[in-house]
Amino acid sequence: MDSNGLESSRRLMAEGGVHPRAIAVFAHSYGILASGETGLLAEPDLEPVAELPRLADLDTDPEAARAAMAATAVVKLNGGLGTSMGMDRAKSLLEVRPGKSFLDIIAEQILALRAEYGVGLPVVFMDSFRTSDDTLAALAAHPGLATDGLPLDFLQNREPKLRSDDLTPVSWPADPTLEWCPPGHGDIYTALDASGLLRALLDKGYRYLFVSNADNLGARPDPALAAWFAQSGAPFAAEFCRRTAADRKGGHLARRAADGQLVLRESAQTRPEDEDAFGDIDRHKFFNTNNLWLDLAALDAVLQANDGVLGLPIIRNVKTVDPADPSSPEVIQIETAMGAAIGVFEGAAAIEVDRSRFLPVKATSDLLVLRSDAYELVDGAQVRLAPSRSAAPLVELDKPYKLVGDFDARFPQGAPSLIECEKLTVKGDWTFGRDVRAVGVAAVSAEGSPGTIPDGTVLGG
Ligand code: UTP
Repeated sequence: MDSNGLESSRRLMAEGGVHPRAIAVFAHSYGILASGETGLLAEPDLEPVAELPRLADLDTDPEAARAAMAATAVVKLNGGLGTSMGMDRAKSLLEVRPGKSFLDIIAEQILALRAEYGVGLPVVFMDSFRTSDDTLAALAAHPGLATDGLPLDFLQNREPKLRSDDLTPVSWPADPTLEWCPPGHGDIYTALDASGLLRALLDKGYRYLFVSNADNLGARPDPALAAWFAQSGAPFAAEFCRRTAADRKGGHLARRAADGQLVLRESAQTRPEDEDAFGDIDRHKFFNTNNLWLDLAALDAVLQANDGVLGLPIIRNVKTVDPADPSSPEVIQIETAMGAAIGVFEGAAAIEVDRSRFLPVKATSDLLVLRSDAYELVDGAQVRLAPSRSAAPLVELDKPYKLVGDFDARFPQGAPSLIECEKLTVKGDWTFGRDVRAVGVAAVSAEGSPGTIPDGTVLGG
């Protein structure tokens, strides 16, 4: 079954103009999928990482920071479709502060850093074939963002979705664009190479690349981190945060016992008997923020030496070919994750950063918190917790708020005030009026819903 599926996938990709290196990477991943190899990382083969250097402890020479920033370019991952929030466009197009999308805030952060440090600091968005047009149209509002003759985006590769029953490319004549998917953000290495951007950046004298998710507004390219990375001489580094009880289920950093190499272990790579160790946040203390620093010369060398195939572990993502139609055929999308490359670059480094560099928007509850007065937009478009707070409020919203369109309709006046809120739980289906405040631990029960929370209501307190 598999050789058939692989051959037809390869043919479709070649006919569709996919770069030969991207086809080679797909073939490598397909081989792993078809073999049923699980990529498990057993606890006895790992050593926990007890401590990391910390951003907060760095003593940075301002001239070293400026020099490192002058050699740094930025890539924002923007190829995903925000499907968990019911979107079929880039999440970064959403309004996150009044009148400003994620893209606007990223653009303002970059322009402010350029002015402050007197550096070029190009920013390039990694788009997929589904996100590019919208993103470029939105970025047109920021003249001067494109710089140094570099494009504002480059495209991820695409690959066929595979039928889960026989691993052949799925056919969906109702909408053939749904037969394809982006191969996850681990594709960045292949896409940088295949698009020619890697070469263009090196030719223009950029040595370092800071990469992060477009939906993480905490990931401003930090000059102290740029200086630390440049001085480290490491080919690759990733920023980690300390795990808390709420982060038990996500992946963690570890060291491979055999050779000391840093690796990430995700839950899908964990044996059932290691589940307790996996969730033990005192043993495995750090999780990946997906904020990465790459030495572009080292990346180029590794890609050349391996014909473009880094050999990242695969993620088997099971969906339906039409995500909006649960009765459409089940497919497997083979994906890889960018951070897993920490296990591939010999001498890769890691640094601890605090939560302010990790503000992901995975769900509408995250969006509500960022839209609220618990956060502020300060100098240089930096997104900060309000000074009176030491941590973000916890928000749990019920099912009616899951999809972003439904969510927006239920907060027509914008987010309630959360500046004094520790936790807000909303059950049922309520539309929030003007000037609603949540204070302390606040809960809205489902009783009486659907309905309206009147203007000026104080919840909790
Ligand atoms: P997420 O999984 O959080 O975002 O990816 P998503 O893909 O937009 O949302 P869901 O999972 O469909 O709900 C983290 C970051 O990686 C990017 C996303 O754009 C986001 O910035 N990404 C993801 C890519 O650039 N390419 C991909 O193939 C997948």
